[in-house]
Amino acid sequence: MISGYGIDMGTGNLKIFDRSTGKVVNEKNTIAIVDGDRMYAYGDEAYSMYEKAPDTIQVSFPIINGVIADFDNMQTMLLEILENRMGAKLKGADIVIAVPNDITEVEKKAFYDMFAKTKIKARSIRLCEKPLADAMGMDIDITEPTGVMVVDMGADTTEISVISLGGLVISNLLPYGGNRLDDSIVTYLKRKFNLVIGRKTAKSLKENIGSALKGQGTSMTIVGRDVVSGLPIEMSIDSQVVYEGIRDELNNLATNIKMILEKVPPELAKDIVHSGIYITGGGSNIADIAEFFSGVTNIKMNVSEYGEETVARGLDKVLSDEKFHRFGYTMKSRIFS
Ligand SMILES: Nc1ncnc2c1ncn2[C@@H]1O[C@H](COP(=O)(O)OP(=O)(O)OP(=O)(O)O)[C@@H](O)[C@H]1O
Ligand SMILES: [Mg+2]
Repeated sequence: MISGYGIDMGTGNLKIFDRSTGKVVNEKNTIAIVDGDRMYAYGDEAYSMYEKAPDTIQVSFPIINGVIADFDNMQTMLLEILENRMGAKLKGADIVIAVPNDITEVEKKAFYDMFAKTKIKARSIRLCEKPLADAMGMDIDITEPTGVMVVDMGADTTEISVISLGGLVISNLLPYGGNRLDDSIVTYLKRKFNLVIGRKTAKSLKENIGSALKGQGTSMTIVGRDVVSGLPIEMSIDSQVVYEGIRDELNNLATNIKMILEKVPPELAKDIVHSGIYITGGGSNIADIAEFFSGVTNIKMNVSEYGEETVARGLDKVLSDEKFHRFGYTMKSRIFS
């Protein structure tokens, strides 16, 4: 079997599907740099240093708002993980990279150049629109003349798309996602309890006891800094408080979904109402998200089983299934044809 890799460079997580194992490797998309340019750590290890490192170590995220912000470090980390950690055979391999649809050709080319601008002689390097990969990853046959709506709730982006006959009828890349929910928890706890917490703590509150409808009746003990005394204190945070912190952002998302729904041509809207809206991305793991969106839109929600890994699994279809092969395109053919 020819080796193949499906790559989803997310703002929060880097997901790589390996055809030889049939599995997805999922690492934090984070780098730690020392001396201005030397890579000190990457992936989960670098993320564990986030908000903890001294000034001499800079921890950063090479993808911002879904596009490549730091090409060289992203490329170094990608090749490290592929070659050293996964033992990937890139020479002669088929590579498919997911890209958001709603970005410029120049931004898309940077994803392509991740591999095109190396000495590695891959057999093929192709791009695939992320919403299409999302749908394929949820086992939807995107070639059918049926309207499908996909909402991908990522870390820095939320991509809302409508697909029919293998093409994107509507696609909208909102420049916010799970990270914004984390920030609003930070702000809310400061306002309510005079408590300053880190983004990582906020993220773990959201992931463990957060929900989209109302508090789950659970709580979690965290450590923050009391603004008044200036000292670190331990506090038990109720799930209702976490919900109140993220409520406005979730309503904002629901409003955006409604706005897109209003633009969907009627025949496609009929299909969407019939089969429901497909929700994926790591953010779709939040408790009660389906009930919340259904309540706002009156449409049934299908939540992906694999959240963060849906795109990477969809890329496997492009690599392995003849029917979906054409959804991977090379940069050259797209610009000049
Ligand atoms: N159980 C959970 N509840 C709420 N949010 C969660 C949960 N698990 C993961 N997340 C959130 O999902 C996000 C990461 O998801 P994902 O890997 O799909 O994003 P990404 O692909 O890296 O980002 P993007 O698509 O915006 O570039 C993070 O914001 C994370 O906090
Ligand atoms: Mg993503």
